Amino acid sequence: MAPSAQRKGNVAEHEAQAYKDPGTPEEQSRRQFLANATLAVGGVIGLVLTVPLVSSLIPESLLSPEKSAGGVWADLPKSDIATLTSKPGEPVKINFNFKYADGYLPPADDTQFVWGVKLTPEQDQTFRAKRPDLFNVPSMEIKYPAVTMSFVMFSSICPHLGCRYQWVGEQKRFICPCHGSQFGVEGAKLAGPAPRGLDPLPFREKDGQAQVTWIQYKSGQADRLIVAYS
Ligand code: FES
Repeated sequence: MAPSAQRKGNVAEHEAQAYKDPGTPEEQSRRQFLANATLAVGGVIGLVLTVPLVSSLIPESLLSPEKSAGGVWADLPKSDIATLTSKPGEPVKINFNFKYADGYLPPADDTQFVWGVKLTPEQDQTFRAKRPDLFNVPSMEIKYPAVTMSFVMFSSICPHLGCRYQWVGEQKRFICPCHGSQFGVEGAKLAGPAPRGLDPLPFREKDGQAQVTWIQYKSGQADRLIVAYS
């Protein structure tokens, strides 16, 4: 055999022996330590990635009882609630501030307004009959009470194409300036191209403070599909 071929054969045999050799006890324990460390680091990385992923699939209301059906509760000005309470059946425009909480962006301040109505006893009784879209059609239902303590808070976004409608007192109806959709005081659609009635938002009273959750529903379709929470 040529010397170079002989050398190659020796090297290969030596490498094969090296793989079979279990090594000294110190080397064995070092290998075991490195294997355990690799597993531990992998586990930590997996946990770090898994917790946000899993929590993004759990409704916010379960993660934090202080949050409502997916969003955060925002305080409504006490003076507006007092006005609302003193005028049953008359809608009141209520501005409020909140922190916009997105799953991907840092919280940011936002301002919105709702149309609040304190229903009269008669409106309270007939609300369900006037708003079959909220109670009788599964794809149009909302997942929280539409009326709380006789109060309803309507999203100010027109369900047609997203303009802001106004309450026109002389006509006793909400009217959207963009394409003329009209809604009754209970939010039922009366005229125009809007595919559904107004969208009530979650409302509650906590420790004397009235609160609402801002939810944005998809415009232009009958089904109520949530596109954003506060
Ligand atoms: S956006 Fe309101 S009627 Fe079209």
